[in-house]
Amino acid sequence: MSLPKPIHELEFNHGSIYGPEEAAAIAAVLADSAPSCGARVLEFEKAFAKYCGATQALAVTSATAGLDLALAAAGVRPGDEVITTPISWISTANAAAKLGATVVFADVDPDTLNINPASVAAKITGRTRVILPVHLYGQCCDMDELTELARTNGILLIDDCAHTAGAEYKGRKTGSLADISVFSFHQQKNMVTLGEGGMVTTSDTTLFERMLGLRSLCCRSYDPKGKYLAFDEAQHPMGKRYWELDFEDLGSNFRMTEIQAAVGLIQLRKLDAMNQRRIEIAAEYTRRISKVRPLAVLPDRKHVFHIFGVLADNKEDFMWRMYTDHRIKVWSHYMPIHLTTAYRKLGHGPGECPVAESLFKHYVSLPIHPRLTPEAVDYLCSTIEALS
Ligand SMILES: Cc1ncc(COP(=O)(O)O)c(C=O)c1O
Repeated sequence: MSLPKPIHELEFNHGSIYGPEEAAAIAAVLADSAPSCGARVLEFEKAFAKYCGATQALAVTSATAGLDLALAAAGVRPGDEVITTPISWISTANAAAKLGATVVFADVDPDTLNINPASVAAKITGRTRVILPVHLYGQCCDMDELTELARTNGILLIDDCAHTAGAEYKGRKTGSLADISVFSFHQQKNMVTLGEGGMVTTSDTTLFERMLGLRSLCCRSYDPKGKYLAFDEAQHPMGKRYWELDFEDLGSNFRMTEIQAAVGLIQLRKLDAMNQRRIEIAAEYTRRISKVRPLAVLPDRKHVFHIFGVLADNKEDFMWRMYTDHRIKVWSHYMPIHLTTAYRKLGHGPGECPVAESLFKHYVSLPIHPRLTPEAVDYLCSTIEALS
């Protein structure tokens, strides 16, 4: 079936998010032969950690890779349980399931769609190793409650910050709110690194070292360069073997490229301004639309509107008419993970998260990105309001 070419959609086809600064940075990397894990990767990691208020960061190929690293570093293994939300991109749950852990889906808050701490509390068992909240759409979860649950039960807290670069919870930036935080710089995110990319942050040295190892094949070297782990020379004196390496476990190569890091450094400088534009557009939607209901925005957090989420009474009809009558391609984030074929095969299914399942009939994402002009926002709002 052929679908109409949209005039407005979530992020694509509205000019480039990159400017001359990124182009110049890319040219400079090319002139330097684009080394693996060069100075720009290290600088990007340092700048991102500082921005978030974490002590360390590691640039990775994607948030999917970052989640894999984080859960492996947490020591998740078969028999463990990881509690997460069903409303996320599937990477979140997969990171636990791929390690052989049981994914336990907690239900969500009906006003924000974020994971509900009361449901998390009800699902904690002696086998729970990690609580893995997702700060959905750009607004933080109830981190005080989740931190308390994690601390009192001796469980690690790893937050999926794919939507929340620059978001805040009670004045603290994401990236500093959990034991490990995982960011995405995929092309639709609030800051981007050439289509793909991600970052993990932590202030825990042991977790950092494990992730550093796992990111580069668990390689130890006498010349680690921020890429590998260093040999402990007290245990393994170098002698003349400056070239020796060891691989102390089974890792991967999840390293970000130098060219992405050069762009990431510039995007990070622009992040607050790009988020501010998202916040302004969200305010305009909230002021103007009444045919669909915006999700709640809580006063003690800075929502950065990766997605502008609304609830529509008749979701399918609303989405179809917006697309086919008005060429506005709205979307729905996300298919509840426990209802996907992959998770049904793992024994999940309807009834596990009744609130998420009933809200799935209603949640819709409206176009929002920093390049939306006031005229475009006006067109989007008036189109929604004109729907009968
Ligand atoms: C909540 C969430 N987590 C993880 C990911 C995975 O990010 P990436 O595409 O960088 O692997 C996404 C991507 O859309 C996401 O939305």
